[in-house]
Amino acid sequence: MIFSRLVASSLAAASSLFLDAAAFAPVAKSAISTYSSTALSGPLRRNTALPAFIATSDDAPRNVQSLEEWCTQYGVQKIDGIQLYTEDGLDYQMITTADIPAGTTILYVPGEMVLSSDRVAQELNSISDGGVDAAVQQLGRIGGASSIPKFYLFLKMLMEYEMQENSSFLPYLDAMPRLYYCAVSMTDFCYECLPPLVFNLSRTERVKFDNFLQVIKKVDIISDYIKNNQEVLKWAFNSVYTRTYCHKDGQSADDVALVPYADMFNHAAQTEVEVYFDADGNCMAYTLVDVPANSPLRISYGDPTNPSFIFARYGFLDESSPAGFCKMMDIPKTEDNVNMGMDPPKMLFYHDTGDISQEVLDVVLYAKVLTKQGYSQETGEVRRQFYEAHMNGDEATKAQIHEQYRPQVMKEILNHCNTFLKSLEALEKKSEGKSFDQHPRLPVILQHNEWVKQTFLKVKSNVEPLVQQYEAAGGGGGFGGGGGNWGSNDGGGWDQGGEEQYYYEEGYQ
Ligand SMILES: *[C@@H]1O[C@H](CO)[C@@H](O)[C@H](O)[C@H]1NC(C)=O
Ligand SMILES: *[C@@H]1O[C@H](CO)[C@@H](O)[C@H](O)[C@H]1NC(C)=O
Repeated sequence: MIFSRLVASSLAAASSLFLDAAAFAPVAKSAISTYSSTALSGPLRRNTALPAFIATSDDAPRNVQSLEEWCTQYGVQKIDGIQLYTEDGLDYQMITTADIPAGTTILYVPGEMVLSSDRVAQELNSISDGGVDAAVQQLGRIGGASSIPKFYLFLKMLMEYEMQENSSFLPYLDAMPRLYYCAVSMTDFCYECLPPLVFNLSRTERVKFDNFLQVIKKVDIISDYIKNNQEVLKWAFNSVYTRTYCHKDGQSADDVALVPYADMFNHAAQTEVEVYFDADGNCMAYTLVDVPANSPLRISYGDPTNPSFIFARYGFLDESSPAGFCKMMDIPKTEDNVNMGMDPPKMLFYHDTGDISQEVLDVVLYAKVLTKQGYSQETGEVRRQFYEAHMNGDEATKAQIHEQYRPQVMKEILNHCNTFLKSLEALEKKSEGKSFDQHPRLPVILQHNEWVKQTFLKVKSNVEPLVQQYEAAGGGGGFGGGGGNWGSNDGGGWDQGGEEQYYYEEGYQ
């Protein structure tokens, strides 16, 4: 659960080790004076009966009740009405059974329970004989520098897992999900069913996992038994990657945190709640809007117009997503094109209406229609004018050039839709006759592909009549040459050497 505000610098000020009983003090924050004061002091240690062994197999149950008891015992406070709700015992979400006005602090998790990567790094380095640092250095060298904070949390999860009944975080670990649908849990067959963008995003997630596995060999605080246990390694990786809060402004994300209980909010495009950290590293959640009783309380895991990223990382389709990237992956990321709007979060097709964002229209005109080979000098001149008008905010000139080339732009977009829909159809065929028992992630993949397909069909149904009109009128469209060749490699998009492709970088999220 990412991208809520984390006041990174302040976490350093918080006391360092979790296992230090003295670090625990009763909680009494003025900001949360509405709470009943149930906080206890004492060592961070479970007192509830738990299985002696945390199972990590897909079908292992989540022990959420012990989590609740443990949280209450160690000072997690919430206002009346906030509770965890589940329909299937697998997926839990936070809801409220009481009306809550906007701006109410609804949840408080004391800093001592927060697993911040900065503090975890200190802790791990203090018990390691250099192995942790050697692994981290290597991770940096193999291109995983931005994953280092999460790597520390990953190691912490493994270390606590290995301690089993002696871990102070056992109730937290034992309440984690086991069954994941995200990229790292997908099989090779799953990958075959992914369209290019989400394929690339999923590979990117998998590469992070592979990097962790490569460097963990150097770590001296984890046993070889754990290092070779794929199931546990995946579980720890998924736990970290689907639950950590990061810096909102993204790029460097140099402090991230796992927060028991506060990591139970689900995602929505329209959120009810935001999470933040105070100067002492305590975590709080407050309402952004008036929330009526019996509603979900949700945060944002990432840009709602990037359902493919959310799918790759979290393993679910955000049906509330208003729009998605138009999947034009064959447009070079040149400075001109980027200035023109060549940025996935801006190049959108809208799901319900089939509307096309202005950036798509601008980029298609500039980078495709006016760029095709064999064009006259005159076209080159128009292209230059269009660019200048765009950069100078001269909307009238832009509109006039758009008007002139509208048939070609529409035809280009229609061709793109057709090519893309054809590739989706091919992917759909692959899954025919496959059993969902054998491929439990297939339904979510199909659901994702269907969402994309419906979006493209909507766009197509808007654009096609226009193109037919233009053609009947005898104008435009004479430029042929379909919507690019990005889709020529079905499973592909990530291995097409040479061709510059566009993709969502992690920093974008
Ligand atoms: C937990 O601690 C006890 C006592 O030190 C030890 O005997 C036991 O092996 C530990 N369990 C694990 C899983 O490390
Ligand atoms: C995804 O696409 C980008 C841009 O083409 C490429 O640099 C990156 O390596 C790809 N990622 C994977 C994991 O294939």
